[in-house]
Amino acid sequence: MFQHDRDRHFPEDFVWGAASAAYQIEGGWNADGKGPSIWDTFCHEKGRVFEDQTGDVACNSYELWEEDLRCITQLGLTHYRLSFCWSRLLPDGTTRHVNQKGVDYYNRIINDLLANSVTPMVTLYHFDLPQALQDRGGWESEEIAGFFDEYARFCFRTFGDRVKLWVTLNEPCVCAELGYEEAYHAPGVQKPGTSVYLVGHNMLKAHSRAWHSYNRLFRSEQQGLVSLALNSDWAEPCNPSNPEDVAATQRYIAFSLDWFASPVFGDGDYPAVMKAQIAARSRAQGCPSSRLPEITPQMKEEVKGTADFFAINYYTSRRVRFTKSAAQTVSFSSDKEAEGIVDPSWPIAGVSWMAVVPWGLRKLLKYIKDSYGDPRIYITENGFSAVDPAPLEDTQRCAFARDTLLEVLRAIRQDGVDVRGYFVWSLLDNFEWVQGYSVRFGLFHVDFTHPRLSRTMYRSGEQYAKIIASNGLSAVQEG
Ligand code: BGC
Repeated sequence: MFQHDRDRHFPEDFVWGAASAAYQIEGGWNADGKGPSIWDTFCHEKGRVFEDQTGDVACNSYELWEEDLRCITQLGLTHYRLSFCWSRLLPDGTTRHVNQKGVDYYNRIINDLLANSVTPMVTLYHFDLPQALQDRGGWESEEIAGFFDEYARFCFRTFGDRVKLWVTLNEPCVCAELGYEEAYHAPGVQKPGTSVYLVGHNMLKAHSRAWHSYNRLFRSEQQGLVSLALNSDWAEPCNPSNPEDVAATQRYIAFSLDWFASPVFGDGDYPAVMKAQIAARSRAQGCPSSRLPEITPQMKEEVKGTADFFAINYYTSRRVRFTKSAAQTVSFSSDKEAEGIVDPSWPIAGVSWMAVVPWGLRKLLKYIKDSYGDPRIYITENGFSAVDPAPLEDTQRCAFARDTLLEVLRAIRQDGVDVRGYFVWSLLDNFEWVQGYSVRFGLFHVDFTHPRLSRTMYRSGEQYAKIIASNGLSAVQEG
């Protein structure tokens, strides 16, 4: 494939990272003045999560940060992506009360990273809304954009002298769909076909307000970059010669990636196919207006262009077939009329949704380049799940990592995509949301039965360290 060994290398200054999220690793759920988040509430309700597990302790990174730092330096990461827990910093979600212990905790992480020449990338929101704001309507309320902006400004002001890479929101599409459509994630609301769009709309407003605040108040002095992390499967039609499958595939991507990418990186509006589809179905259902809120001309101006790089999380791909929905059914999936199917030839890793399709990432990267004006891209999450017993000799994950990075290289060298970095999900095995601790994504194994929650590097972690050290794949060619 590549003629020269140098072609197996990544561009100079390529960013090598790993990612985590506060609720999934920190624990210390009520320590030192932290306020509860919607995930604390959700997990404390019986029957929500696998075996009623919670993130109360998780990897206890709140107390064991130094262990995490050891993992990071052992890998030789250039960057570490973490998220802040909003209610650890601002217990009721507002700056009325600042929890200094929370500020100290994140200051320590940031300072330790920098002292070890690791650059932090900070996500402000990774699914864990302060419960106090949920009680005021949460993401369904328009007020939330103002609260988020206040929190974002607080973080820029407090940490922005050292943090130069910011992600406002992680995967708004997952928050909206899993949290408000399917009640599969916190806050466990189930209002199909309506709240999902309202929440997405408010998330867009929140993101763009925070970006403008940065732009106006902090950028000239701090010189950082701000974006939001979007996620999408890659999708191809089940039958490429069936126009209905082809159109359904377009909708499949429109209802995930383009839903947020089009307003922020495109023309400022929701994708035309999404608007048309939801408007037509809403009309047939007798709704006074489309269930998808309108992006007004003023909002368009506010949202458009509010990202300094493209952050994409990629896990898997689907073949898509058109499915006709009953006209009266009000739901996100019936609006979409596109069913995602796992091709039987694709291997499955750990959880059933994780079909292993490394080439899907290359295609998705090319799609982003072509659709959104060749932005600079960071792959802010990509990973491979395992279920217990998860052996330290994780050879399948090693092969997955090599295949995936080869596809990233092809995207860079052959398709000319401007990929600047790659973050593995995740640094540690952690609390995998409703699947609790039954699903493992780590570069480090965590022994959840051990009192010190001991971390041990997987073989794939060792391989990743070699890839980072050589800035390429030649050192691990043969596995
Ligand atoms: C989320 C992570 C999650 C991972 C694996 C991503 O959608 O950002 O929090 O653990 O997927 O499911």
